Amino acid sequence: MVSVNETSVKNLLYNAQAIRQRVSELAVEIAAGLPSGDLVLIGILRGSFVFLADLVRELHRHGVSTQIDFMMLQSYGAGTVSNGDPKLIKDFTLDVSGHTVLLVDDILDTGRTLDFAARHIRERGADLCKTCVLLDKPARRTLLFQADYVGFEVPDVFIVGYGLDFNGRCREWPYLAQLESPAT
Ligand code: IMP
Ligand code: MG
Repeated sequence: MVSVNETSVKNLLYNAQAIRQRVSELAVEIAAGLPSGDLVLIGILRGSFVFLADLVRELHRHGVSTQIDFMMLQSYGAGTVSNGDPKLIKDFTLDVSGHTVLLVDDILDTGRTLDFAARHIRERGADLCKTCVLLDKPARRTLLFQADYVGFEVPDVFIVGYGLDFNGRCREWPYLAQLESPAT
């Protein structure tokens, strides 16, 4: 297995300050578009946990109270290439019927993960399911899927940090970076 450390970084894409600024702007957009000041956030594990943690605190600053739950889906094995349909590893347990749900993920890539998760949430009776991703890689989309809220649109490169991993590493980096040459 290829190991990775901070010397493997090719490009710093967004530093902590730029991310903080954009997360704050997203919270303003989300708060303004809500039918009420109450929201159920469902994060996709594991990649969304850092973004979601910052986002809920920004939403709080803008008067939105939240309930939080998570689903775990797996579409990637080791490496950087998606290997087909997502599998539901862990379901959320909150009752979402009659609620507005915001589905949160780190990155929208082929679209399979969020398409699957959004359908699942609607089947569980949510009134409305909106989606929010920190990063959007539109060049890789294989399904017609658009997120309602996007932090940054990014090119087709492999990105790590701020929750995003390569082989389980780099999630704790406070910035987003492109790796030198990740093996697939
Ligand atoms: P999708 O189902 O192809 O849209 O894949 C979404 C999932 O793939 C995300 O939740 C990420 O976990 C992972 N992913 C896609 N692109 C990247 C990347 O550049 N870096 C790290 N993880 C990625
Ligand atoms: Mg993920």
